[in-house]
Amino acid sequence: MAVRALIAGIMTDLHARPWWERGTIYQIYPRSFQDSDGDGVGDLAGIERRLDYLVDLGIDAIWISPIFPSPMADFGYDVADYCDIEPMFGDLAAFDRLLTAVHARGLKLLLDFVPNHTSDQHLWFRESRASRDNPKRDWYIWRDAKPDGGPPNNWISDFGGSAWEWDAATGQYYLHAFLKEQPDLNWRNPEVREAMANVLRFWLDRGVDGFRIDVLWHIVKDAAFPDNPLNPDWTPAINARDEVFQTYSTDQPEAHAISADMRALADSYGERVLIGEIFLPNEAHARWFGTPERPQVHLPFNFQLIETAWNVAKLRQVIADYEASIPAFGWPNWVIGSHDAPRIAARIGEAQARVATMLLLTLRGTPTLYQGDELGIGQVAIPHDRMRDPQYFRQPGVDVGRDRSRTPMPWDASANAGFSTGEPWLPLNDDWPTRNVAVQGADAGSMLTLTRDLLALRRAHDALSVGSITLVESEDDVLSYLRQHEEEQLLIVLNLSSSDHAYRVPDGYDVETVLASTKAPRAIDSRIAADEGLVLRLKRTA
Ligand code: NOJ
Ligand code: MG
Repeated sequence: MAVRALIAGIMTDLHARPWWERGTIYQIYPRSFQDSDGDGVGDLAGIERRLDYLVDLGIDAIWISPIFPSPMADFGYDVADYCDIEPMFGDLAAFDRLLTAVHARGLKLLLDFVPNHTSDQHLWFRESRASRDNPKRDWYIWRDAKPDGGPPNNWISDFGGSAWEWDAATGQYYLHAFLKEQPDLNWRNPEVREAMANVLRFWLDRGVDGFRIDVLWHIVKDAAFPDNPLNPDWTPAINARDEVFQTYSTDQPEAHAISADMRALADSYGERVLIGEIFLPNEAHARWFGTPERPQVHLPFNFQLIETAWNVAKLRQVIADYEASIPAFGWPNWVIGSHDAPRIAARIGEAQARVATMLLLTLRGTPTLYQGDELGIGQVAIPHDRMRDPQYFRQPGVDVGRDRSRTPMPWDASANAGFSTGEPWLPLNDDWPTRNVAVQGADAGSMLTLTRDLLALRRAHDALSVGSITLVESEDDVLSYLRQHEEEQLLIVLNLSSSDHAYRVPDGYDVETVLASTKAPRAIDSRIAADEGLVLRLKRTA
């Protein structure tokens, strides 16, 4: 009886915590992961071929950037059909095979749901623009010109230029928060909501484990379409998007009900996870968790490690403020790289990128790891004529191109790094003959080995995945925090500088073991080396 009660207790504990709280998510950018047919573009069969690498790495779930039919104006974020697979990537049968193979390995698969806009080649938009009285006219956002013929308001596309495109045939403007090839859907129209709910059902019925939802905070706009306030700090040297604050074009109260409806739909399928792409200050960001009675997304993506200057004071503040903003029923998460952001190793150098990986994998909350960051891919030089990202071409003078974060995975030292037998759609990282999976997998001191070891450590220690977190006072340049669960106390010490430092162990504790170092394995020492990160197990002083 006692044993049964104990087992029941363990089962409840396991069940009380969904997989995505303990798990690590790995983002696959499908064009650049693995090509299987020699066209130089990655595909679903390629992902399937590399699943064992991911199992070995020790992640729990993959999120795949969009794989749906697309003219690729924004490389898949312009969806022409939500319920099929882009032929370049495979077909529905290849998808089903991939999903089965993912599940057979105990992994989860998340798709990328792009609800804010479709491709201008989607049938819905082709109908919508056919005439003013087309039944789908109101599925998108059409407005008359101002009396002077100009756009309805001053909203700016995230890629630069007006967010309104004139349609001469029907004499109105349509709204596009991104490219003109990505018209915004009108989520105030109930038919749009129903059509998009059916898209979610289509993939949930096939067995996917959840979705990352693209620009979720964009989906509803102020019904009166007022001008956005001007940003007084903007200059032409920075992103055109930031010339105005997106006060009326994003984060509208009505969007939260839609987000809650998506959650209710996902929950009706059992344990599924929704991750919302949301860039907002903490207080507004946390509202996307919803309420316990009417929850919204499980994980509103937290990009603050990408946006924060790499120094201890700033990072401490970010961790403390973010933690404080999470509602009691919510769960934190951290992201350090993506297909949209500069590579972490390009931003802070490889030595500190190792420290950053330790930070990502030892903070409280679900980590998302971006493909290639486990190899420390850093600066990549891409000549102008090999650039592909529309954001680069739309703002030539501003350094906002994203191609350097999207180069193909270097697997080994064979031709094209084993990524493709054909010419890769983007160049590889220049140092691919030495910076690749095969070389780093065989090197005990590599970034890949470090990442694998940290993922294994996180899996082995509940304190790292689900323990509490407390920031610890430390010398300048040293970021330190305690992770605690039941009897276990782990101290994380990260040296963000290139000189060594002393660090503080909380009163009443001594260091028992060094569980991990971003440098070579080492003995206990009261100092931390330059560019080092440590995970230490503490014991109570006698
Ligand atoms: C966010 C995606 O991550 C980005 O790649 C894309 O360009 C925009 N949303 C538009 O869909
Ligand atoms: Mg291919």
